[in-house]
Amino acid sequence: MIKKGIILSGGMGTRMSPLTKAVNKQLLPIYDKPLIFYPLSILMLAKIKDILIIINKGQLDQYKKILPDGKRLGIKITYIEQESPKGLPDAFILGDKFIGKDDVSLILGDNFFYGQYLSTRLLECVQLKKGAKVLLHRVAKPERYGVAKVNKNKITLIKEKPKKFISDLAITGLYFFDNRVVKFSKELKPSKRNELEITDLLNKYRKKNQLSADYIGRGGAWLDTGSIEDFYKTSNFVSAIENQQGFKIACIEEIAFLNKWINKTHILDAIKFYGNCEYSHYLKKLITK
Ligand code: G1P
Repeated sequence: MIKKGIILSGGMGTRMSPLTKAVNKQLLPIYDKPLIFYPLSILMLAKIKDILIIINKGQLDQYKKILPDGKRLGIKITYIEQESPKGLPDAFILGDKFIGKDDVSLILGDNFFYGQYLSTRLLECVQLKKGAKVLLHRVAKPERYGVAKVNKNKITLIKEKPKKFISDLAITGLYFFDNRVVKFSKELKPSKRNELEITDLLNKYRKKNQLSADYIGRGGAWLDTGSIEDFYKTSNFVSAIENQQGFKIACIEEIAFLNKWINKTHILDAIKFYGNCEYSHYLKKLITK
């Protein structure tokens, strides 16, 4: 059972400059809340309460203003500042102490997931006992992502941003690993672009026949908010769903409340913290229903 999660929230966000010159990308808004709320909500939906957020050096104060230590959400949040981005598997090297003897999940700070059966799927994924698991999603432009070729639910090939078509199944930025991930990450050598590659790490599990795949499914959405265009697309998506259906996506207090990690008093504290805004009005409705 995976009880720990890492959000990799570093990176320079160069593709979104000048927006990201003064503010970290994950603190910029996706419609009505900061981007970081979305990956955090995914871990919380997977009932993960012990969370490490890896951020850029010098940005701790900014993050602590919005997500101090998790107490308000009934969870534990720890931060590590990263000197410079060295590739995704570096999260497990930096997080060595945090992970300890446990299994761990990793979510990329700019990944957005939404779907009807997502919670059920997440709760299945954290049941992982041995090996690694990835969530796949069909995309129109596979050359932008890590891609997996699958034969009857078995992953037969993995490639990072393949120039030649091998499959249209992207490996989304949500991964589940057993404890060996720390050891395996430390064994990796930097790639040609001088980074540790997640695909090399996944290949270690695949070669041992210990990499499994699950799917978000056609009814679900996965958006990687890497560029300004994607940022606005995701914002529009959230706005459309929230305004049509009257509930919020990634309202972290609501998830904590429904998980019974916090009570009405915590919600009232959150309302005080956020002040007189639409988000607070939503929280108010939650406890007066
Ligand atoms: C990273 C990973 C890639 C994965 C993608 C998901 O790419 O390297 O395998 O498919 O995240 O968002 P990046 O977005 O950092 O280029």
